[in-house]
Amino acid sequence: MKTKIESIFHQKFEGQPLIVRSPGRINIIGEHVDYNGGYVLPAAIDKYIYVAIDKRNDGIIGLYSVNFDVKIEIEINNLKPSNDFSTYVFGVVDQVIKRGYSISGFNIVIYGDIPVGAGLSSSAALESAVAFAINEIYQLGISKLELVSIAQSAESIFAGVNCGVMDMFASIYGQKDFAIKLDCNSLQFEYMPLVLDGYSLVLFNSNVKHSLASSAYNIRRSQCEAGLNRIKQFLPNVNTFRDVTESHLIEYILPFDKEIFTRCLYVVKEIQRLNDACQHLANGNLQALGQLLYATHDGLSLEYEVSCFELDFLIDEVKGNSNVLGARMMGGGFGGCTINIIKDEAISELIDSLKVNYLKTTGLHLEVIKVQTVNGTEIVV
Ligand code: GLA
Repeated sequence: MKTKIESIFHQKFEGQPLIVRSPGRINIIGEHVDYNGGYVLPAAIDKYIYVAIDKRNDGIIGLYSVNFDVKIEIEINNLKPSNDFSTYVFGVVDQVIKRGYSISGFNIVIYGDIPVGAGLSSSAALESAVAFAINEIYQLGISKLELVSIAQSAESIFAGVNCGVMDMFASIYGQKDFAIKLDCNSLQFEYMPLVLDGYSLVLFNSNVKHSLASSAYNIRRSQCEAGLNRIKQFLPNVNTFRDVTESHLIEYILPFDKEIFTRCLYVVKEIQRLNDACQHLANGNLQALGQLLYATHDGLSLEYEVSCFELDFLIDEVKGNSNVLGARMMGGGFGGCTINIIKDEAISELIDSLKVNYLKTTGLHLEVIKVQTVNGTEIVV
Protein backbone atom coordinates (compact mmCIF):
# COMPACT_ATOMS: atom_id res chain seq x y z
CA MET A 1 0.00 0.00 0.00
CA LYS A 2 2.86 2.38 0.82
CA THR A 3 4.34 1.98 -2.66
CA LYS A 4 0.94 2.39 -4.29
CA ILE A 5 -0.03 5.62 -2.56
CA GLU A 6 3.51 7.00 -2.91
CA SER A 7 3.48 6.43 -6.65
CA ILE A 8 0.05 8.09 -6.97
CA PHE A 9 1.44 11.05 -5.01
CA HIS A 10 4.33 11.32 -7.50
CA GLN A 11 1.86 11.34 -10.41
CA LYS A 12 -0.20 14.16 -8.88
CA PHE A 13 2.33 16.29 -6.98
CA GLU A 14 6.02 16.99 -6.56
CA GLY A 15 8.09 16.15 -3.48
CA GLN A 16 8.57 13.16 -1.20
CA PRO A 17 5.55 12.39 1.00
CA LEU A 18 5.21 10.97 4.49
CA ILE A 19 2.74 8.06 4.64
CA VAL A 20 0.35 7.82 7.59
CA ARG A 21 -2.52 5.43 8.18
CA SER A 22 -5.38 5.54 10.61
CA PRO A 23 -7.79 2.65 11.27
CA GLY A 24 -11.56 2.38 11.38
CA ARG A 25 -13.15 1.09 14.55
CA ILE A 26 -15.65 -1.35 15.96
CA ASN A 27 -17.39 -0.95 19.28
CA ILE A 28 -18.10 -4.05 21.35
CA ILE A 29 -20.73 -2.37 23.50
CA GLY A 30 -21.59 1.10 24.85
CA GLU A 31 -23.45 2.65 21.92
CA HIS A 32 -24.69 6.24 21.92
CA VAL A 33 -23.29 6.78 25.38
CA ASP A 34 -20.03 8.55 24.52
CA TYR A 35 -21.86 11.88 24.34
CA ASN A 36 -23.96 10.87 27.34
CA GLY A 37 -21.17 10.61 29.86
CA GLY A 38 -20.82 6.83 29.68
CA TYR A 39 -18.06 4.36 28.95
CA VAL A 40 -17.45 2.76 25.55
CA LEU A 41 -15.49 -0.32 24.48
CA PRO A 42 -14.14 0.26 20.96
CA ALA A 43 -11.18 -1.30 19.15
CA ALA A 44 -9.29 -0.24 16.03
CA ILE A 45 -9.63 -2.63 13.06
CA ASP A 46 -7.61 -3.60 10.01
CA LYS A 47 -9.37 -1.23 7.63
CA TYR A 48 -7.58 2.03 7.05
CA ILE A 49 -7.43 5.53 5.63
CA TYR A 50 -3.96 6.14 4.18
CA VAL A 51 -2.61 9.59 3.49
CA ALA A 52 0.55 10.61 1.64
CA ILE A 53 1.41 14.17 2.62
CA ASP A 54 4.12 16.76 1.99
CA LYS A 55 4.49 20.40 3.05
CA ARG A 56 4.07 23.35 0.75
CA ASN A 57 4.85 26.97 1.52
CA ASP A 58 2.39 28.94 -0.62
CA GLY A 59 -0.70 28.73 1.59
CA ILE A 60 -2.40 26.18 -0.68
CA ILE A 61 -3.80 22.72 0.04
CA GLY A 62 -3.55 20.33 -2.92
CA LEU A 63 -5.71 17.30 -2.34
CA TYR A 64 -6.29 14.17 -4.39
CA SER A 65 -8.69 11.37 -3.43
CA VAL A 66 -7.90 8.02 -5.01
CA ASN A 67 -11.32 6.57 -4.14
CA PHE A 68 -13.28 9.43 -5.69
CA ASP A 69 -10.69 10.40 -8.33
CA VAL A 70 -11.08 14.08 -7.40
CA LYS A 71 -8.35 16.71 -7.26
CA ILE A 72 -8.87 20.00 -5.41
CA GLU A 73 -6.64 23.02 -4.82
CA ILE A 74 -7.73 25.54 -2.25
CA GLU A 75 -6.29 28.39 -0.24
CA ILE A 76 -5.74 27.52 3.37
CA ASN A 77 -7.43 30.78 4.45
CA ASN A 78 -10.56 30.10 2.45
CA LEU A 79 -11.81 26.73 3.67
CA LYS A 80 -15.54 26.03 3.64
CA PRO A 81 -17.54 22.92 4.57
CA SER A 82 -18.99 20.86 1.70
CA ASN A 83 -20.87 17.60 1.34
CA ASP A 84 -17.90 15.49 0.42
CA PHE A 85 -14.84 13.95 2.05
CA SER A 86 -12.80 17.18 1.72
CA THR A 87 -14.84 18.63 4.60
CA TYR A 88 -13.07 16.27 7.01
CA VAL A 89 -9.65 17.36 5.78
CA PHE A 90 -10.49 21.07 5.84
CA GLY A 91 -12.21 20.71 9.21
CA VAL A 92 -8.95 19.46 10.69
CA VAL A 93 -6.91 22.26 9.10
CA ASP A 94 -9.42 24.81 10.36
CA GLN A 95 -9.06 23.45 13.90
CA VAL A 96 -5.27 23.32 13.75
CA ILE A 97 -5.16 26.98 12.69
CA LYS A 98 -7.81 28.08 15.20
CA ARG A 99 -5.76 26.50 17.97
CA GLY A 100 -2.86 28.76 17.09
CA TYR A 101 -0.59 26.37 15.17
CA SER A 102 1.09 27.80 12.12
CA ILE A 103 1.06 25.85 8.85
CA SER A 104 1.60 27.02 5.28
CA GLY A 105 -0.14 24.38 3.17
CA PHE A 106 0.44 20.82 2.00
CA ASN A 107 -0.22 18.32 -0.76
CA ILE A 108 -2.11 15.21 0.25
CA VAL A 109 -3.26 12.01 -1.44
CA ILE A 110 -5.95 10.01 0.34
CA TYR A 111 -6.85 6.37 -0.11
CA GLY A 112 -9.11 4.24 2.07
CA ASP A 113 -10.48 0.72 2.32
CA ILE A 114 -12.98 1.47 5.10
CA PRO A 115 -16.45 1.13 3.59
CA VAL A 116 -18.09 4.58 3.67
CA GLY A 117 -21.42 4.83 5.49
CA ALA A 118 -20.96 1.43 7.13
CA GLY A 119 -20.65 2.73 10.69
CA LEU A 120 -16.91 1.97 10.84
CA SER A 121 -15.93 5.63 11.22
CA SER A 122 -14.17 6.29 7.97
CA SER A 123 -14.58 10.02 8.58
CA ALA A 124 -12.95 9.85 12.04
CA ALA A 125 -10.12 7.78 10.56
CA LEU A 126 -9.60 10.42 7.87
CA GLU A 127 -9.64 13.26 10.40
CA SER A 128 -7.26 11.37 12.68
CA ALA A 129 -4.88 10.57 9.82
CA VAL A 130 -4.81 14.19 8.63
CA ALA A 131 -4.36 15.64 12.13
CA PHE A 132 -1.56 13.17 12.92
CA ALA A 133 0.13 13.77 9.54
CA ILE A 134 0.06 17.59 9.79
CA ASN A 135 1.48 17.33 13.29
CA GLU A 136 4.33 15.19 11.97
CA ILE A 137 5.32 17.21 8.88
CA TYR A 138 5.17 20.51 10.75
CA GLN A 139 6.59 19.11 14.00
CA LEU A 140 3.87 20.90 15.95
CA GLY A 141 4.26 18.81 19.10
CA ILE A 142 0.51 18.23 19.50
CA SER A 143 -0.31 15.51 22.04
CA LYS A 144 -2.33 12.43 21.09
CA LEU A 145 -5.20 13.63 23.23
CA GLU A 146 -5.29 16.98 21.48
CA LEU A 147 -5.22 15.23 18.11
CA VAL A 148 -8.39 13.42 19.22
CA SER A 149 -9.94 16.73 20.19
CA ILE A 150 -8.96 18.35 16.87
CA ALA A 151 -10.51 15.46 14.95
CA GLN A 152 -13.68 15.57 17.04
CA SER A 153 -14.08 19.31 16.60
CA ALA A 154 -13.51 18.96 12.85
CA GLU A 155 -16.48 16.59 12.73
CA SER A 156 -18.77 18.62 14.97
CA ILE A 157 -17.90 22.16 13.87
CA PHE A 158 -17.10 21.71 10.18
CA ALA A 159 -19.07 18.58 9.23
CA GLY A 160 -21.95 19.48 11.56
CA VAL A 161 -22.36 16.13 13.34
CA ASN A 162 -22.23 16.77 17.04
CA CYS A 163 -20.48 13.46 17.62
CA GLY A 164 -18.89 12.01 20.72
CA VAL A 165 -15.24 11.24 21.23
CA MET A 166 -15.26 7.47 20.72
CA ASP A 167 -14.40 7.15 17.03
CA MET A 168 -11.32 9.37 16.97
CA PHE A 169 -10.12 8.05 20.28
CA ALA A 170 -10.29 4.47 19.01
CA SER A 171 -8.59 5.36 15.74
CA ILE A 172 -5.71 7.16 17.43
CA TYR A 173 -5.28 5.04 20.59
CA GLY A 174 -6.15 1.56 19.23
CA GLN A 175 -3.93 -1.38 20.20
CA LYS A 176 -3.72 -4.80 18.58
CA ASP A 177 -5.56 -7.52 20.55
CA PHE A 178 -7.14 -5.01 22.91
CA ALA A 179 -10.37 -3.09 23.24
CA ILE A 180 -10.26 0.31 24.93
CA LYS A 181 -12.47 0.84 27.94
CA LEU A 182 -12.82 4.59 27.67
CA ASP A 183 -14.41 6.82 30.27
CA CYS A 184 -15.94 9.48 28.05
CA ASN A 185 -16.17 11.95 30.94
CA SER A 186 -12.59 11.99 32.10
CA LEU A 187 -10.99 10.41 28.99
CA GLN A 188 -9.20 8.01 31.32
CA PHE A 189 -8.90 4.62 29.67
CA GLU A 190 -7.63 1.11 30.07
CA TYR A 191 -6.79 -1.53 27.48
CA MET A 192 -8.82 -4.72 27.93
CA PRO A 193 -7.53 -7.92 26.30
CA LEU A 194 -9.99 -9.04 23.65
CA VAL A 195 -9.73 -12.78 24.12
CA LEU A 196 -12.44 -14.60 22.17
CA ASP A 197 -11.08 -18.18 22.16
CA GLY A 198 -12.64 -20.10 19.28
CA TYR A 199 -14.86 -17.18 18.31
CA SER A 200 -14.41 -14.26 15.91
CA LEU A 201 -15.85 -10.83 15.43
CA VAL A 202 -17.66 -10.67 12.13
CA LEU A 203 -19.39 -7.61 10.71
CA PHE A 204 -22.35 -7.85 8.41
CA ASN A 205 -22.64 -4.70 6.34
CA SER A 206 -26.31 -4.13 5.55
CA ASN A 207 -25.29 -1.91 2.66
CA VAL A 208 -27.92 0.55 3.82
CA LYS A 209 -26.05 3.87 3.90
CA HIS A 210 -26.79 5.83 7.01
CA SER A 211 -27.39 9.10 5.16
CA LEU A 212 -30.21 10.28 7.40
CA ALA A 213 -28.18 9.56 10.45
CA SER A 214 -26.62 12.95 11.14
CA SER A 215 -29.86 14.86 11.75
CA ALA A 216 -31.36 12.01 13.78
CA TYR A 217 -28.09 11.79 15.71
CA ASN A 218 -28.20 15.45 16.67
CA ILE A 219 -31.85 15.08 17.71
CA ARG A 220 -31.07 12.08 19.98
CA ARG A 221 -28.28 14.08 21.52
CA SER A 222 -30.46 17.07 22.33
CA GLN A 223 -33.25 14.84 23.68
CA CYS A 224 -30.81 13.29 26.13
CA GLU A 225 -29.46 16.72 27.10
CA ALA A 226 -33.01 17.91 27.74
CA GLY A 227 -33.71 14.85 29.92
CA LEU A 228 -30.54 15.25 31.93
CA ASN A 229 -31.08 18.98 32.42
CA ARG A 230 -34.55 18.33 33.76
CA ILE A 231 -33.29 15.77 36.26
CA LYS A 232 -30.60 18.21 37.38
CA GLN A 233 -33.31 20.73 38.25
CA PHE A 234 -34.69 18.27 40.79
CA LEU A 235 -31.45 16.60 41.79
CA PRO A 236 -28.61 19.13 41.78
CA ASN A 237 -26.08 16.44 42.72
CA VAL A 238 -26.57 14.68 39.42
CA ASN A 239 -23.76 15.48 36.97
CA THR A 240 -24.06 12.90 34.23
CA PHE A 241 -26.25 9.94 33.30
CA ARG A 242 -23.99 7.81 35.47
CA ASP A 243 -25.66 9.35 38.50
CA VAL A 244 -29.15 8.69 37.13
CA THR A 245 -31.28 5.63 37.97
CA GLU A 246 -34.35 4.19 36.28
CA SER A 247 -36.51 5.39 39.17
CA HIS A 248 -35.25 8.96 38.67
CA LEU A 249 -36.43 8.71 35.08
CA ILE A 250 -39.82 7.35 36.09
CA GLU A 251 -40.27 10.09 38.63
CA TYR A 252 -38.96 13.14 36.76
CA ILE A 253 -39.06 12.44 33.02
CA LEU A 254 -41.92 10.04 32.31
CA PRO A 255 -44.72 12.43 33.35
CA PHE A 256 -43.07 15.19 31.34
CA ASP A 257 -42.19 13.55 28.00
CA LYS A 258 -42.56 9.86 27.10
CA GLU A 259 -40.15 9.96 24.17
CA ILE A 260 -37.39 11.67 26.12
CA PHE A 261 -38.01 9.16 28.91
CA THR A 262 -37.49 6.23 26.55
CA ARG A 263 -34.27 7.70 25.12
CA CYS A 264 -32.87 8.34 28.59
CA LEU A 265 -33.93 4.88 29.76
CA TYR A 266 -31.84 3.36 26.99
CA VAL A 267 -28.82 5.43 28.06
CA VAL A 268 -29.08 4.49 31.75
CA LYS A 269 -29.44 0.79 30.88
CA GLU A 270 -26.58 0.87 28.35
CA ILE A 271 -24.20 2.43 30.87
CA GLN A 272 -24.98 -0.48 33.21
CA ARG A 273 -24.64 -3.05 30.41
CA LEU A 274 -21.17 -1.78 29.57
CA ASN A 275 -19.96 -2.25 33.13
CA ASP A 276 -21.37 -5.77 33.21
CA ALA A 277 -19.90 -6.53 29.79
CA CYS A 278 -16.39 -5.52 30.89
CA GLN A 279 -16.62 -7.87 33.84
CA HIS A 280 -17.78 -10.73 31.63
CA LEU A 281 -14.95 -10.05 29.19
CA ALA A 282 -12.40 -9.99 32.01
CA ASN A 283 -13.80 -13.29 33.37
CA GLY A 284 -13.92 -14.91 29.93
CA ASN A 285 -17.69 -15.33 30.16
CA LEU A 286 -18.42 -14.83 26.47
CA GLN A 287 -21.93 -16.30 26.70
CA ALA A 288 -22.99 -13.59 29.12
CA LEU A 289 -21.22 -10.91 27.09
CA GLY A 290 -23.10 -12.05 23.98
CA GLN A 291 -26.47 -11.82 25.73
CA LEU A 292 -25.71 -8.20 26.57
CA LEU A 293 -25.06 -7.46 22.89
CA TYR A 294 -28.52 -8.76 22.04
CA ALA A 295 -30.00 -6.63 24.83
CA THR A 296 -28.21 -3.56 23.49
CA HIS A 297 -29.64 -4.19 20.06
CA ASP A 298 -33.16 -4.34 21.48
CA GLY A 299 -32.54 -1.06 23.27
CA LEU A 300 -31.16 0.64 20.16
CA SER A 301 -34.04 -0.62 18.08
CA LEU A 302 -36.99 -0.11 20.43
CA GLU A 303 -35.93 2.59 22.89
CA TYR A 304 -33.33 4.71 21.16
CA GLU A 305 -34.90 3.98 17.75
CA VAL A 306 -31.77 4.21 15.63
CA SER A 307 -32.05 0.82 13.91
CA CYS A 308 -33.81 -0.02 10.64
CA PHE A 309 -35.59 -2.96 9.06
CA GLU A 310 -32.44 -4.42 7.49
CA LEU A 311 -30.39 -4.29 10.71
CA ASP A 312 -33.23 -5.82 12.73
CA PHE A 313 -33.55 -8.56 10.13
CA LEU A 314 -29.83 -9.39 10.41
CA ILE A 315 -30.14 -9.70 14.18
CA ASP A 316 -33.32 -11.79 14.07
CA GLU A 317 -31.65 -14.17 11.64
CA VAL A 318 -28.76 -15.00 13.99
CA LYS A 319 -30.47 -14.71 17.34
CA GLY A 320 -31.66 -18.31 17.66
CA ASN A 321 -28.34 -19.72 16.39
CA SER A 322 -26.32 -21.30 19.20
CA ASN A 323 -23.08 -20.60 17.28
CA VAL A 324 -23.68 -16.86 17.54
CA LEU A 325 -23.01 -15.69 21.09
CA GLY A 326 -24.27 -12.19 20.52
CA ALA A 327 -25.00 -9.58 17.88
CA ARG A 328 -26.18 -6.01 17.58
CA MET A 329 -26.24 -3.05 15.26
CA MET A 330 -23.12 -0.94 15.65
CA GLY A 331 -22.33 2.77 15.43
CA GLY A 332 -24.67 5.67 14.82
CA GLY A 333 -27.39 3.53 13.23
CA PHE A 334 -30.00 3.73 10.44
CA GLY A 335 -27.81 1.41 8.39
CA GLY A 336 -24.22 0.27 8.45
CA CYS A 337 -23.07 -2.94 10.09
CA THR A 338 -24.05 -5.43 12.72
CA ILE A 339 -21.30 -6.87 14.91
CA ASN A 340 -21.49 -10.60 15.66
CA ILE A 341 -19.51 -12.95 17.89
CA ILE A 342 -19.53 -16.23 15.96
CA LYS A 343 -17.95 -19.66 16.58
CA ASP A 344 -15.11 -20.07 14.08
CA GLU A 345 -16.23 -23.42 12.60
CA ALA A 346 -19.75 -22.13 11.99
CA ILE A 347 -18.89 -18.90 10.18
CA SER A 348 -18.80 -19.98 6.56
CA GLU A 349 -22.04 -21.98 6.63
CA LEU A 350 -23.84 -19.19 8.44
CA ILE A 351 -22.64 -16.59 5.95
CA ASP A 352 -23.78 -18.66 2.96
CA SER A 353 -27.35 -18.97 4.14
CA LEU A 354 -27.56 -15.43 5.55
CA LYS A 355 -26.45 -13.90 2.25
CA VAL A 356 -29.21 -15.73 0.41
CA ASN A 357 -31.92 -14.82 2.94
CA TYR A 358 -30.80 -11.19 3.11
CA LEU A 359 -30.91 -10.77 -0.64
CA LYS A 360 -34.29 -12.46 -0.85
CA THR A 361 -35.83 -10.30 1.86
CA THR A 362 -34.24 -6.91 1.24
CA GLY A 363 -32.98 -7.01 -2.35
CA LEU A 364 -29.56 -5.99 -1.03
CA HIS A 365 -26.22 -7.76 -1.04
CA LEU A 366 -24.70 -8.56 2.30
CA GLU A 367 -21.03 -7.72 2.72
CA VAL A 368 -19.15 -9.80 5.27
CA ILE A 369 -16.15 -8.26 7.01
CA LYS A 370 -14.03 -10.41 9.35
CA VAL A 371 -12.07 -7.98 11.46
CA GLN A 372 -8.78 -8.12 13.35
CA THR A 373 -7.80 -5.52 15.91
CA VAL A 374 -4.80 -3.32 15.12
CA ASN A 375 -2.70 -0.45 16.47
CA GLY A 376 -3.92 3.13 16.13
CA THR A 377 -2.76 5.94 13.81
CA GLU A 378 0.85 5.48 12.76
CA ILE A 379 3.52 6.33 10.21
CA VAL A 380 3.86 3.61 7.57
CA VAL A 381 7.54 2.77 7.08
C1 GLA B 1 -21.20 7.67 15.84
C2 GLA B 1 -20.52 8.82 16.58
C3 GLA B 1 -19.89 8.32 17.88
C4 GLA B 1 -20.91 7.54 18.72
C5 GLA B 1 -21.62 6.49 17.88
C6 GLA B 1 -22.73 5.82 18.61
O1 GLA B 1 -20.24 6.73 15.43
O2 GLA B 1 -19.54 9.40 15.78
O3 GLA B 1 -19.37 9.41 18.60
O4 GLA B 1 -21.80 8.41 19.34
O5 GLA B 1 -22.15 7.04 16.68
O6 GLA B 1 -22.25 5.13 19.71
